[in-house]
Amino acid sequence: MKIAIDHDKCTACGRCVEVCNINFSEGPDGKPTYEHFMALLRSRRSRREFTEQAVSREHIDALLAAAAQAPNGLNRRNVGYTVITDRKVLSELSLAVGRQTGKFADWLARPAFRALFKLLWGRAYADLEPLVPLLKPMAEETLKGNDMVLYKAPCAILLHTLKHDACGAEDAVYCGANILLAAETLGLGACVIGFLTGPINSGRGLRELARIPPGHKVHTSIIAGHPRFAYSQGLLRPLPETRRV
Ligand SMILES: Cc1cc2nc3c(=O)[nH]c(=O)nc-3n(C[C@H](O)[C@H](O)[C@H](O)COP(=O)(O)O)c2cc1C
Repeated sequence: MKIAIDHDKCTACGRCVEVCNINFSEGPDGKPTYEHFMALLRSRRSRREFTEQAVSREHIDALLAAAAQAPNGLNRRNVGYTVITDRKVLSELSLAVGRQTGKFADWLARPAFRALFKLLWGRAYADLEPLVPLLKPMAEETLKGNDMVLYKAPCAILLHTLKHDACGAEDAVYCGANILLAAETLGLGACVIGFLTGPINSGRGLRELARIPPGHKVHTSIIAGHPRFAYSQGLLRPLPETRRV
């Protein structure tokens, strides 16, 4: 059924999309309208609770097709994708990150190590500081089987490029953003997992486990699955603070 939208009156609340499962309405030129695009953006939230259901090959290909549409520096399309659906590998990755995080938390608990860490990576430590008290419990829970790293997601997609690719990080993140939005349109839930990206680049064992090609750096990691809960309302965030020159 085609639904006519009065674009002058639409406030982009997103209810029509949520309640009636309406697909994107098209604007006059065949593209989704800004309002419907905003409804999609508002409905995208990080999902961390998944059903047991696997993500189908068709859905994975649809996510990758969305990623392939992203802009990329010099149009070289250099981003590599590693899709992991093997539950044993996913679980081993979580456990390995849990173990590493636990050790790191133990080191950070030592004043001399913390002082050295701050000296060498002061900025990184400042960003990490609110997380520090959570590292140990997160590691312990994960090692007990309550996966706080990949949340028992049935699928992880790692986006990587050659380590020294001049545009690698930006290319990968734009592709990843497309994956997050495409997941929402497919009824999948997704979440960026920085807790995997950092350790995978620093630990050889983890890289081998995930079969990251030699010389590549992972720029972003995304988990996906069928969400256990539906969020009933989208979120409208305020305009960001902006300098207008
Ligand atoms: C670079 C980056 C790293 C992230 N790492 C994690 C992570 O390791 N674990 C996690 O649960 N969420 C992670 N997230 C998700 C954020 O917590 C989430 O995007 C943020 O709280 C905003 O919520 P929303 O995505 O629902 O809008 C990460 C997001 C980004 C962009």
